[in-house]
Amino acid sequence: QPRAFALPFVGAIDQGTTSTRFIVFDRAGAMVASHHEKFSSILPKEGWVEHDPHVLLDTANRCIAACLASMEALGFPKDSIKAVGVTNQRETLVVWDRSTGNPLCPAIVWNDTRTVGTVNRLTAGANDFLDTLSPAERDTANAAGVQATPRADSDFSRRNIFQRLCGLPLATYFSALKWRWLVDAEAEPGAKARPIADTRARGDLCVSTVDSWLIWNMTGRASFVTDVTNASRTMLMNLSTLKWDPLLCRFFDIDPACLPEIRSSAEVYGHFAKDHPLAGIPLSGCAGDQQAALVGHSCFADGDTKSTYGTGCFILSNTGERPVFSKHGLLTTVAYQMGPTAPPAYAIEGSVACAGVALDWLRDKMGVVNTTEEISTYAAEVDTTAGVHFVPAFSGLFAPYWRSDAQGIITGLTQFTDRRHLCRAALEAIAHQTCDVLDAIQMDRASAAGDSSAQPDTTLYVDGGVTHSDFLVQLQSDLAGVAVERPHMREVTALGAAYLAGVGAGLWPHATGPDADQASLLGSRQSFRPNIAPEKCQIMRQDWKQAIARSCGDQV
Ligand code: G3P
Repeated sequence: QPRAFALPFVGAIDQGTTSTRFIVFDRAGAMVASHHEKFSSILPKEGWVEHDPHVLLDTANRCIAACLASMEALGFPKDSIKAVGVTNQRETLVVWDRSTGNPLCPAIVWNDTRTVGTVNRLTAGANDFLDTLSPAERDTANAAGVQATPRADSDFSRRNIFQRLCGLPLATYFSALKWRWLVDAEAEPGAKARPIADTRARGDLCVSTVDSWLIWNMTGRASFVTDVTNASRTMLMNLSTLKWDPLLCRFFDIDPACLPEIRSSAEVYGHFAKDHPLAGIPLSGCAGDQQAALVGHSCFADGDTKSTYGTGCFILSNTGERPVFSKHGLLTTVAYQMGPTAPPAYAIEGSVACAGVALDWLRDKMGVVNTTEEISTYAAEVDTTAGVHFVPAFSGLFAPYWRSDAQGIITGLTQFTDRRHLCRAALEAIAHQTCDVLDAIQMDRASAAGDSSAQPDTTLYVDGGVTHSDFLVQLQSDLAGVAVERPHMREVTALGAAYLAGVGAGLWPHATGPDADQASLLGSRQSFRPNIAPEKCQIMRQDWKQAIARSCGDQV
């Protein structure tokens, strides 16, 4: 019996760190067609992670072609699709020449840590940079809350010098640091060629994130745009004005003319070019993948919190129309802007660099299991890790610690240890890291409300590949002490992008609350409740904190 779908259809390109997908949804959020392709990261040196920008584009186009073929087989012409949204791995830097359309170097991926030296140098020089400002510029900076940091301040507080402007600390994670590394590498005396400087001199330089690269190519090089959520991850956008910030552009040595136009997350950016299979269809939604997942979960109310478990783990909590600046190691970011005249919604975010990647490492590099599914099976066979702790700090530690010097460690090994304990320790690490961020969110919310007894949020919405494991989701609920809700439809990120595209193309209004038909697109969810003695949980959390200290080389 062929399934009945509700027209119109909306497509979503989801370009992630390890795979690309295209999914076509019907009006009610049911999946009509879906195709995905995995691709490999390039790891040329320790700490370096690169992608070929052409591969990102080609995989997206092949996924689109495969979905159109599936739709045709179902009897739906391609023009049943009325809008397409783009969602993408964030922070990854793409630099290209607009005259040739060629990238000038491989994309530098968000979890690449080559910029550690750049971060340290820029942090050390930030006060001196502020000294070079004119009195008028200094007044503007002071009014925005940017001030020289005392040398005696902690390393993290010094790296947070621009927090009030862009919500982010100086860290290897963000695009501007990757850009600055490229510029500095070209300026090295021994550098053989200067493609970036040459292209910049010709006025053909494009510097942006993966969303811009895809949209520019798919619109036949017509639209050089990004959206507020992606721009808010570069460290170059001012969170209040939603424009490229002149002070930050100067600090990172980037000419704003090389950057795309910043647009809302839901509006028509352009149409697919005439030689594209989707010719003429509008591209009308765009958001970084974690923000798109927040939208996909319908986390539209202040306090709504989601966690997506993929390569890394990203926990975002909606703070409404007001940016909240964390005192506990979280980032401030734009959650979405539902159209050019809509107010932005903000979120606080805890980004954890290594989640699923730790499971892949156990499978591929250590050969502990043959499939990642086996990890949950083995983990469930033991009640504890027998004292084993695994801190997968492969790219240092991101939120809430921000320690680029942290190292991956496994502690507590004995002759008794077997792979079941290791598997359990890997899954516990993912759940503990999420708890560390949830604790920070709770502390920030309590201090923003001026009430240290404020109750934690009672529900965490989850998605992502790792949440296929019931064991992990139950563990998350146990350790966090909150209800965890997992939708049956797992493609939440793509659904969020499709929702934005529908809003942007005027197919449906953005509406929240009980009248919102689109807000319930996800359908049914499975709920997991805490089921562990609080004392046991407390001991597990304490042991984990000790493992974190060891990973950072701190006194335990
Ligand atoms: O900030 C990085 C994030 O956007 C990557 O997400 O799902 O591709 O690992 P994912």
